[in-house]
Amino acid sequence: MSFSIIGTGSALPKTIQTNDDLTEYFETSNEWIVSRTGIEARHICIEESILDIALEASLNALDNAHINPKELDLIICPTLGGDTVTPSLACLIQEKLEATCPSFDLNAACSGFIYGLDLADAYFCRNREMKILVVAVDAMSKLVDWKDRSTAVLFGDGAGAAILSNGDDLKAIRLTSVGNQHALCIPWAKGNHPLLKDQETPSPYLLMDGDEVYRFAVAAICNDLKTVVKQAGITFEDLDFIIPHQANLRIIKSAAKRLKIPMEKFALQINSCGNTSAASIPLVLDEMNRQGKLKPGMRIALSAFGGGLTTGACVLEWSKKSF
Ligand SMILES: CC(C)(COP(=O)(O)OP(=O)(O)OC[C@H]1O[C@@H](n2cnc3c(N)ncnc32)[C@H](O)[C@@H]1OP(=O)(O)O)[C@@H](O)C(=O)NCCC(=O)NCCS
Repeated sequence: MSFSIIGTGSALPKTIQTNDDLTEYFETSNEWIVSRTGIEARHICIEESILDIALEASLNALDNAHINPKELDLIICPTLGGDTVTPSLACLIQEKLEATCPSFDLNAACSGFIYGLDLADAYFCRNREMKILVVAVDAMSKLVDWKDRSTAVLFGDGAGAAILSNGDDLKAIRLTSVGNQHALCIPWAKGNHPLLKDQETPSPYLLMDGDEVYRFAVAAICNDLKTVVKQAGITFEDLDFIIPHQANLRIIKSAAKRLKIPMEKFALQINSCGNTSAASIPLVLDEMNRQGKLKPGMRIALSAFGGGLTTGACVLEWSKKSF
C-alpha cells in the first residue's frame, strides 16, 4: 500500500518583481536573465510571512481534498526554514490549522518535496489509514544576497502542498545525496559565544558555484529519470508529463535533449516564478491540477535537484478524478 494524491494547493506572495525591476539593485538586464535562465519574474514575500504562504497552500490543498484539518495524521514541511528556527514551520502550520497531528520540517533543499513523498510513503507502508499533508515552502528572497546579481536573479518565494491518502499513485521513487558544501551553501550564524568574538562572521547568504550546479543538475535529471522510469516498468513515451525542478530553463532543455524527450512533455512555470526551491514542483503540480490537465491514468514523472547536494525523482500514476 502506498499513497494517492487527493488534493493539491499552492500560494505565491503578492509582490511580483520583473527582471527590469531588479536593474534597480545591480547591473543586469531582462535580456541576460531570460537568455541564461528563462526567468522573467518572481514573487517575493514582503507583506506576507513564510507561514502565511505555507498556510494558504495548505488550506487550498485541504479544500481540494475535501477534508478537515482535524483528519490529518501527519504534517511534513519540506523547507530550508520558516520564520523561526524553532518552532518548526510545520508546527506553526499545525497550530494555525488547529490540527492535532505530529508535524515536522524536512531539509533536503530543492529536492524536499520528493523527499517528503518518500518519507510519507514509508508511513503508508505501515498499512494504516492515514491522511498526510506535505507542504513544501521556501522564501529564497530571504536567503540570497541582494548584492550578488549572479544568484539573486535566479530565485523566488512560494509554497506548494499535496494531501496524501492510502492508494497506489506512486510507481517508483529514488533519492540521492552527495554531500558538497562548495557547490551550494547557505551558512548559518556561528553564534556569539565570547570565545568566538574575534572570529570573522561569515556571510549568511547563499553561495553557489553556478557551473558546477548546472553540470550536476543535467546529469542528475538524466540519471534519476532513467532509473525511475525503468523501476516503474515503463518508457519515456509512456509519460504524459514531466515536472522538473524549475531552476533554469537551459538545464531542463539540456536534459530533455540528452534523454531525447520532447520539450512539450515538460511542465514549466519558471518564467513567472523562478526557482522557488522545495515549492517549485508542487507549485506546478497544483497549477496543472487546477487547470484540469491531470486525468486519471496519466503518468507523471517528477525530478528535482538542489543543495546538499540532493536529488529525487518519482513516477506517479494520477488517480484523482477531477479538480
Ligand atoms: C548561474 C548561471 C545562470 C550562470 O550562467 P552562465 O551562462 O554560466 O553565466 P556565467 O557564470 O558564465 O556568467 C557570465 C557573465 O555574466 C555575468 N553575470 C552574472 N550574473 C549576471 C546578471 N544577473 N546580469 C548580468 N550579468 C551577469 C558574470 O559576471 C559573467 O561576466 P564575465 O564573463 O564578465 O565574468 C548558471 O550557471 C546556472 O543556472 N547554474 C545553475 C544554478 C542553479 O540552478 N542553482 C540552483 C540549484 S537548486
